[in-house]
Amino acid sequence: MTDLAGKRVLLIVSGGIAAYKALELVRLLKKEGVTVRCVLTAGGAQFVTPLSLQALSEETVYTDLFSLTDESEMGHIQLSRAADLVVVAPASADILARMAAGMADDLATTLLLATDKPVLVAPAMNVRMWQHAATVANMATLAARGVTVVDPDEGAMACGEWGPGRLAEPPAIVERIAARLMPRAIPVPRRLLTGRHIIVTSGPTHEPIDPVRYIANRSSGKQGHAIAAALIELGARVTLVSGPVAIPDPPLARVLHVETASEMLDACRAALPADAAICVAAVADWRVATPSDIKLKKAPGAEPPALALTPNPDILADLAKPAPDRPGLVIGFAAETNDLLAHAAEKRQRKGCDWLLANDVSAAGGAMGGDDNEIQLITAEGHESWPRMSKQAVAQRLAQRLAEALGDA
Ligand code: C5P
Repeated sequence: MTDLAGKRVLLIVSGGIAAYKALELVRLLKKEGVTVRCVLTAGGAQFVTPLSLQALSEETVYTDLFSLTDESEMGHIQLSRAADLVVVAPASADILARMAAGMADDLATTLLLATDKPVLVAPAMNVRMWQHAATVANMATLAARGVTVVDPDEGAMACGEWGPGRLAEPPAIVERIAARLMPRAIPVPRRLLTGRHIIVTSGPTHEPIDPVRYIANRSSGKQGHAIAAALIELGARVTLVSGPVAIPDPPLARVLHVETASEMLDACRAALPADAAICVAAVADWRVATPSDIKLKKAPGAEPPALALTPNPDILADLAKPAPDRPGLVIGFAAETNDLLAHAAEKRQRKGCDWLLANDVSAAGGAMGGDDNEIQLITAEGHESWPRMSKQAVAQRLAQRLAEALGDA
């Protein structure tokens, strides 16, 4: 048994194939000495029976059919409060939407609206439902209200598709329940950026040569995606404009997938207004002036085709130029191989951005594609050197600095 012994969890089991994992969750919690009282929604009852939950929890299981007005039983207000934590696992897209809307149209949502206790949700649904703008908005609403989200895992789904949406494994849910029930053991970051909208660009761009070939670079998107995640962690609403990358979308970000620099600029402009814009993408400097509509053929003995290039728009400079919709803080990155500070300071001036984070991409520095970064932050006031750290740590430090600069810290 752990420190969880003696704690009380109200577990709401909603509909979905993952409901069977709720049985394992109950078993693990009981093993830790937790009292688990279960509420089964009508959808959940299609997948597990009240009897199996009752056998494992050794407690009465509540469903809509069970009358809470019965005098000998607990009223719903009391039931929702006689717990240290309310857990919804699995949480279907439907119950999350009803929670976000503040509905109380069945026992589960009534309890969730009546509770004065912290709430933790472990979503499980089809990948397209999880990524739908409606679910993304609902999750942002719930997160802003302080609901803890145990992100779904990525993998093969019961419906045959692949992606994020599978219920997190029960041991991982127990770990998050423990963290939520013992906040002193694991500090929860203050949500300093709640109400702020921030645009982040990330990844490379692909500039077409013909329908099958393109010009690209080695950017992985790791730094930009980590920054988006760190800002969301502090409560910001993030629009991530991402070039083609092989890493997953950060949960709860609104992600606009683009290929070319022109598409990236259009997506950024369409996302305005914003409190800040952080341009992390490694945008191709040039594109092919007139990409071919058909695949260029390799004719025997013929010269290779000459590619006429034309400059791409500079997204950072565009967002930083004086305009009524200029974000309050515009931040760029500069990948340099020599004379880092001099080049970066000149670039900050030329692009008109407020801050520039310079990093060394020489063979020794190796920031591109790697997991670490060593940053020099250049502002109007001067520069500061950050020690070598992971891209996640750079992201957290930048998010914290941003909150301070926007006056939220
Ligand atoms: O000029 P350079 O590519 O070194 O500038 C790097 C910074 O400018 C990065 O923040 C990058 O995201 C941004 N940039 C941009 N659009 C371009 C080129 C660079 O937003 N076309």
